[in-house]
Amino acid sequence: MALILAFAVYMAETAHLNVKKLEATNRELEREIVGREQAEDALRHAQKMEAVGRLAGGVAHDFNNLLMIIRGQAALLQKNVGLGSTLRRELGEIVRAADQASSLTRKLLAFGRKQVLQPRVLDLNALITQVAEVLPPVLGEDIKLNMDLDPELGRVKADSAQLEQVIMSLVFNAREAMPRGGELTIQAANCDLDAAWSRFHPGVQAGPHVMLAVRDTGHGMDEETQSHLFEPFFTTKDKSKGSGLGLATVYGTVNQSGGCVKVSSKLGLGTTIQIYLPRVEEPVEVVQAPEPIVRSLQGEERILVVEDDDAVRRMTREFLTIKGYTVIEASNAADAIQFVESHDEIIDLVLTDVLMPGMKGRELVERLAKLRSSFKVLYMSAYTEDDAIDIGVLSPGTAFIEKPFSPDELAVKVREVLGENGASRSQQPRSHSTEA
Ligand SMILES: Nc1ncnc2c1ncn2[C@@H]1O[C@H](COP(=O)(O)OP(=O)(O)OP(=O)(O)O)[C@@H](O)[C@H]1O
Ligand SMILES: [Mg+2]
Repeated sequence: MALILAFAVYMAETAHLNVKKLEATNRELEREIVGREQAEDALRHAQKMEAVGRLAGGVAHDFNNLLMIIRGQAALLQKNVGLGSTLRRELGEIVRAADQASSLTRKLLAFGRKQVLQPRVLDLNALITQVAEVLPPVLGEDIKLNMDLDPELGRVKADSAQLEQVIMSLVFNAREAMPRGGELTIQAANCDLDAAWSRFHPGVQAGPHVMLAVRDTGHGMDEETQSHLFEPFFTTKDKSKGSGLGLATVYGTVNQSGGCVKVSSKLGLGTTIQIYLPRVEEPVEVVQAPEPIVRSLQGEERILVVEDDDAVRRMTREFLTIKGYTVIEASNAADAIQFVESHDEIIDLVLTDVLMPGMKGRELVERLAKLRSSFKVLYMSAYTEDDAIDIGVLSPGTAFIEKPFSPDELAVKVREVLGENGASRSQQPRSHSTEA
């Protein structure tokens, strides 16, 4: 009898243990399923953003070239009509509208990760401190600004002007979420992202990162708002207050820089937006600001313009010839090389598009450097392609002008690159074309 009882107890305990083991396995499986679902959601979301980004970037690119022509022709006409002409005011309206449109396309290109970045290794603490100096008047008296910067903060490689824009966008949003005042904290700290992170943030590599957070004590967001946060034109503000492009631009810029953005928010409790950027070991790169400009925007140097869009190229030539330059035009890199090979004339500056069908701007410059030793280079673009990010991302110190540009913006940039106006050349033809 005792034996039977002992056996029954043993069986009951074994069954109990098995149930426990099964429960544990079940919990493990449930966790695994939830994890996979979250990873799938993250992937689906990334794919959706990728598709919207491609659409926005593509439209913005084509639109930008058109804007360049509208804005440029209006600016040229403005120069040609007399000071008293009523046409001047109307042309001014066209230029202003084109400027607004190009600011919109710039944001769309940023969202589509197609803006041309000029990254350099930088000290994020210094950048944040610099931005923070201009914040008090932006925030007003009712918002208290707290800074929480790690003195041992690692360095990141990013485009400082774009990163400043990112911080300002987050600060503006935080301010607007605290209409009756509150606290805004800007925090920066080192952190290490593990493999689980890359699962939930496609495109992000595990490893050492720097985290920049902007935290507010504002009205916060519900789940629905959070799920649309980075979509372009998503806004809960009225038309005069928000275009819904702030966070879309933040998303694109941070992603194009190899990082990611994380949001945590609760209705009534405030919002924290965290930006993670890969930490780099290289020392901070200091870029010399160009010499302050020059008395005259005129010049007599010889400039080779390489641009595949006919209308944009013609207009660029026009901008340069009215300033006195001699212009040689090429509609692609091969024509430009052929011209340089078959002519002995001095070329002072190569002004080339970054991305062209066939050979890209940078490769063209490398090839030309083998043919001629002394020429300056100025890249122009508004756009880069995903698979050409290393082409779209220009090395520090590279001279670059963003399209669309005005005659004077181009003239200033060209003089910056060529240096003080001195070269004086004898009578030369004012323009050539490699197509001729
Ligand atoms: N810190 C925040 N607190 C509460 N809601 C926020 C915060 N940041 C963003 N949001 C919500 O996300 C929406 C989208 O923000 P986003 O910056 O992209 O556009 P916007 O601020 O509406 O317009 P824009 O930035 O173009 O002027 C906002 O309209 C707002 O509803
Ligand atoms: Mg905003």
